[in-house]
Amino acid sequence: MDIKTVFENNETWINQKLDKDPDYFKELAKGQNPDILYIGCSDSRVTAEDLMGVQPGDVFVHRNIANMVISIDLNAMSVLNYAVDNLEVDHVVICGHYYCGGVKAAMQAADLGILNPWLRNIRDVFRLHKEELNAIPDENDRYNRLVELNVQEQCVNLLKTAVVQKAVRKRNMKVHGWVFDVATGRLIDLKIDFKAILKEITEIYDLGV
Ligand code: CO
Repeated sequence: MDIKTVFENNETWINQKLDKDPDYFKELAKGQNPDILYIGCSDSRVTAEDLMGVQPGDVFVHRNIANMVISIDLNAMSVLNYAVDNLEVDHVVICGHYYCGGVKAAMQAADLGILNPWLRNIRDVFRLHKEELNAIPDENDRYNRLVELNVQEQCVNLLKTAVVQKAVRKRNMKVHGWVFDVATGRLIDLKIDFKAILKEITEIYDLGV
């Protein structure tokens, strides 16, 4: 792609926005009040706003390889704490996707250097759900299921944090697990029962907030 095109596209986009609303950017500059924190994969085929049909200002976004929520990831934890505590979002979404290269890599015996410790977190998800996954004969089905289970486990990881426990208990914030199907464009709600999960993990992970 010619980078020059990017700036031409930008001009076109500005004009389209201003045609509809001459104050569009003036309003955007006033501040943000998003309802949703979206944590998704960095995959170039999986956008955040496009697939939800939302506009700038609607969603606070964090993306990394395989949409992971890792407790010592200062980046993800800063985004999470800021979105939940300061922006007071009503929803936190983990959005995985089928055909995720990160998840695929974690299913293979390969040394990927600096990526190893990151992907190990997905291997841990596999180990946790080994029985279910190993019972799936088709490799592709197993891969898709691991994508879903990874989303579920990242929702669990959200619920292990003080900031999420507090927001769920005190202001009924909701946690969602979704999968985007790259092959159809469809967004699938995994209907994660986050309240049941929180209850279940309370014995061990309750932070008393
Ligand atoms: Co991915």
